[in-house]
Amino acid sequence: MVLTGKTALVTGGSSGIGLAAARMLRDNGARIAITGRSEEKLALAATELGGDVLPIQADVSSREDLILASGRIKEAFGSLDILFANAGAALGTPLATTDEATYHKIMDVNVKGVFFTVQAMLPLMREGGSIVLNTSWLNQVGTPGRAILSASKAAVRSFARTMSAELLDRKIRVNAVSPGSIETPIHRQEPERGRVPRLCRPGRRAGAARAHGQAGGDCGRRALPGKRGFELYARSGDRRRRRQIGALTCF
Ligand SMILES: NC(=O)c1ccc[n+]([C@@H]2O[C@H](COP(=O)([O-])OP(=O)(O)OC[C@H]3O[C@@H](n4cnc5c(N)ncnc54)[C@H](OP(=O)(O)O)[C@@H]3O)[C@@H](O)[C@H]2O)c1
Repeated sequence: MVLTGKTALVTGGSSGIGLAAARMLRDNGARIAITGRSEEKLALAATELGGDVLPIQADVSSREDLILASGRIKEAFGSLDILFANAGAALGTPLATTDEATYHKIMDVNVKGVFFTVQAMLPLMREGGSIVLNTSWLNQVGTPGRAILSASKAAVRSFARTMSAELLDRKIRVNAVSPGSIETPIHRQEPERGRVPRLCRPGRRAGAARAHGQAGGDCGRRALPGKRGFELYARSGDRRRRRQIGALTCF
């Protein structure tokens, strides 16, 4: 098992892609911590994952929660080798009707949440560690009613580049994985607030969380996933890899 002795945190690890990534990391031998807001979902996920998974209730839009989570992980694991900043929100935001609260809700989870997740976990990250940010295929395309979600994911793609450059000296790689349309509960959340119906590119089928979780996990364990239709893949560490970060391409 390639990850024996390694530790990993998956934010939003209680459902969908995060849960699939957590399973994959665990199957490869890593000790894992998962976060989410719902205690109930975390408990279910922890039971499903079994073993010594560490469930931590934490909202990524709260710096305080993230700092507490970092403390819990330090206590339990000492350090982190892999961080999959996966937690995200998806709401439809039609230009004409979207209110300020919805704007903040998406940006606070998807942008602020990712930034401060990395900041809070950075002191725990070991040299040679890997950070994977979950962005989206929406970060480069224009689809009606998704302006804020798409912009938030473009910010995450940008984070992968800038953070990667910033963490070169610590030899911490930062990559972005970019799922296509995946069947997960995110498409069923808060229907009254404009859920984002699942949308696929013409001629493409929706993917499975398992495969995309694998992408996040694979980035974390240094293998190129090479799967079809799901990832932007960026690596840092040397000039060639940095060029790849500047050349993120959609599937
Ligand atoms: N599914 C797709 O088609 C698709 C496509 C592209 C990108 N993505 C991205 O993939 C990531 C995972 O989404 P998913 O499809 O797997 O959705 P999901 O099944 O709904 O999982 C979302 C996870 O994030 C957690 N979460 C949500 N808001 C949070 C917050 N404020 N703080 C902490 N945890 C939070 C959820 O738990 P709680 O609700 O308990 O907090 C849950 O564990 C997201 O970043 C999403 O944007 C998904």
